[in-house]
Amino acid sequence: MDQFLIKGSSRIAGEVTISGAKNAALPLLAAMILAKTPTTLHNVPLLQDVRTLIKLISGMGIVIQREGATVTCNTKTIDSYYAPYELVRTMRASILVLGPLLARFGEAEVSLPGGCAIGSRPVDQHLKAFEAMGATIKVENGYVKAQAPKGGRLIGCDFTFDMVTVGGTENVIMAAALAKGTTRLENCAREPEVVDLANMLVAMGAKISGIGTANMTIEGVDELYGCEYSVVADRIETGSYLAGALMTCGDVLTKNTSPQLLHPVLKKFEAMGATISSGEDWIRAKIDKRPQPVDIRTQPHPGFPTDMQAQLMAICCLADGTSTIIENIFENRYMHVPELKRLGANIKVDGHTAIVKGVEKFTAAPVMATDLRASMSLVMAAAAAAEGESLIDRIYHIDRGYEDVENKLRGLGVNIERIKA
Ligand code: UD1
Repeated sequence: MDQFLIKGSSRIAGEVTISGAKNAALPLLAAMILAKTPTTLHNVPLLQDVRTLIKLISGMGIVIQREGATVTCNTKTIDSYYAPYELVRTMRASILVLGPLLARFGEAEVSLPGGCAIGSRPVDQHLKAFEAMGATIKVENGYVKAQAPKGGRLIGCDFTFDMVTVGGTENVIMAAALAKGTTRLENCAREPEVVDLANMLVAMGAKISGIGTANMTIEGVDELYGCEYSVVADRIETGSYLAGALMTCGDVLTKNTSPQLLHPVLKKFEAMGATISSGEDWIRAKIDKRPQPVDIRTQPHPGFPTDMQAQLMAICCLADGTSTIIENIFENRYMHVPELKRLGANIKVDGHTAIVKGVEKFTAAPVMATDLRASMSLVMAAAAAAEGESLIDRIYHIDRGYEDVENKLRGLGVNIERIKA
């Protein structure tokens, strides 16, 4: 397993170009299954999760090719509607092929993703919605076996999600796009990545209204066609690099991104004392004093994103006072806390709440990355550490979600080296 060796005392400053969003690219790749004619997707980040999904889709007989940040897909030769456990278990987003396969081919067999480090993450809402659309769902031997009603087509329905689910909303709008009749969905997720998917479906010929709101209406069409589409910028990657500036009295300019995507995060950065400036496709964060403490609670969009909780916490660790963080989305998303403590942080966790008393500096230490976003908080904390070297283990987590991470960090002044296993 590769490791990062990071020397502390960095001031994180400079320019960084943001990649396409992992959390948008994965559903957009799954949506390609819906199209009868070839689709081309641009701005696809080169990440392990993307490779996994491409492998999964190729395994169905679909011709899918990647050249740089562009992926093309032709579904004409599909000969299987099956997603095996060996691939699904490495990446939960694989469940997103279920809706498209079921809607277009009337059947699918997809492994259940199982639990993951940050929480149990069930998919009951996805399955309930498919059943409401007339599908027969059986869960056997760890697999979801789904069959469309007689005639091979799902039927539009009215469905209210019990909770806001990003993956659930994505799976169901893809299925509804090819269903017979109209589907009215309530309590939909409004994340920018859901909006990106809905926009691509529209470009493929889907009829969707209410995009970006909690209530979406999808009028099913008989066929969808390929299109050319570009993945939205990664708001979490953007926020992660800007967070580095706040931890090191730095100055970071993120390019190829959009301030529209991360209002709740930028508001908190401002409350912490950063000066935020932005244009249509760039955001800059600059700060020249110790950050101020803040209180945050993670919520579905447009609330504060759970995927920025660990990075925000790392800033709070250095703030001039006490911050309170409440994690509302996942039950086990504080695994970075013991690791941040190894770097000198003062954090107390009680259930969903973390109380963070700011310290003046982190101190270098060997630490272990525990999940994707948590790993970025540790990298930034190690770079901000007063002095010494920190060895970060299990960085395969960070490779799942941050494209070209060490080069981008080096460009911002971080002294980082990858130690190959
Ligand atoms: C979630 C986050 C998303 C983040 C991603 C990766 C939210 C609302 N979602 O998306 O921002 O990018 O993790 O960290 O912030 N749930 C069920 N049954 C279901 C589906 C979900 O109980 O069928 C629960 C989950 O356990 C979780 C919550 O609903 O507590 C949100 O889950 P969901 O949005 O589906 O997860 P992701 O799509 O992975």
